[in-house]
Amino acid sequence: MDYLPNKIIEIKKSASLMSEEIIATRRHFHRNPEMSWRETETSLYIARRLEEWGLTDVRRGFGGTESGVVADLAGDAPGPCVALRADIDALPVFEKNDADWRSQNLGVMHACGHDAHMSALLAAAKILAAMKPDIRGRIRFIFQPAEEIGAPSGARAMIGEGVLDGVDAIGGMHVWSFVRAGLVQWKSGPVMASSDRFDIKFTGMGGHGAMPHDAIDPFVPTAAFVHAVQTIASREINPLEAVVVSIGKIAGGAVHNIIPDEVEIYGSIRAFNPEIRRTMEDRLRRVADGIASAHRCQCEVKVEYLVPSVTNDAPLTEVFRRAAVLAVGEGNVGESPHLMVSEDFSFFQEKIPGTFFFLGVGNPAIGADYPHHSPLFTIDESVLATGAALYAAFGLSALESLKSGLLKAHEPLKQP
Ligand code: NI
Repeated sequence: MDYLPNKIIEIKKSASLMSEEIIATRRHFHRNPEMSWRETETSLYIARRLEEWGLTDVRRGFGGTESGVVADLAGDAPGPCVALRADIDALPVFEKNDADWRSQNLGVMHACGHDAHMSALLAAAKILAAMKPDIRGRIRFIFQPAEEIGAPSGARAMIGEGVLDGVDAIGGMHVWSFVRAGLVQWKSGPVMASSDRFDIKFTGMGGHGAMPHDAIDPFVPTAAFVHAVQTIASREINPLEAVVVSIGKIAGGAVHNIIPDEVEIYGSIRAFNPEIRRTMEDRLRRVADGIASAHRCQCEVKVEYLVPSVTNDAPLTEVFRRAAVLAVGEGNVGESPHLMVSEDFSFFQEKIPGTFFFLGVGNPAIGADYPHHSPLFTIDESVLATGAALYAAFGLSALESLKSGLLKAHEPLKQP
């Protein structure tokens, strides 16, 4: 009866014995960050370790690149298949930390903590590889490239190349610097927003700044649009639903006294509810078209759909929560708030039930409280062993739950 709790205690012990090794691996990755779709050396390093530990079907290189690794650990007894995923890419950030493991690749930095994800998942692979007789089924390790860039998404490419074939459920983790080190967070249902982007071009007729009546000024609808677009969230959407429209760039004009032909606006749309997400393009078009015609301009609206919202399967999330409580204790497990940021883990969840969980790595005493993507971002490495234990404990728990029928494979949420 106590099979699973005992195995999780075993996992926790192995992980804490490996703590130094996990930290060293994380520092190796941190020193050698690689940008999205260029994670060649990172992938080679991961593939070698996995082969060394006896994992099988090691595949490296996805999306026509040499980035990304997938490998299987087959237990001694047959059974279902659970995938564990870590993302592996870094960001175009000049690191300002002066630790001796700071980035050696100038202008590129693991400023989001993906180095932590990789080292924790690698350690989980090593721990579980030593527990093959206890594994009743198969665990697939997915080291995904290109999470940061949105499109082309690494998750999407890997799915297209079959990494989910035969997989029944998936789990993924993100470290958070704004959550205290060691606190584990779960959430059922939507937890991270969808992310899409738009380009809008207002075209008028250029002319002299002193004679605006002989021109059609595209800045006027641009200014009106910046204000009016906020009424979508504030006046059109139920205030209990979360939607954000942000403008990140406006481009147009050359000098003080020339009215240009056109101005372009670039922005981002975030939402939780897929139904609302689906309506956003029409709303943007209506506002932009109306403003353009009021000001005698033409307008073009392009919306690019990037990633759906991360929506966690409820029964699978409960399996994770119970495993986490066994691994770190009730006092270190809590519910995550909703987050307006996004993650392409959602593409996996469109195919199979998945749960995405969080591990706090924040510790102001050691400067580990800068936001993700900051040049001063850093983590409390002492919790990396917890990350490894969470991955491994979830993998084993999900396999057992699938096998016992507690967890039934069912349709994941469909999104546009
Ligand atoms: Ni990230």
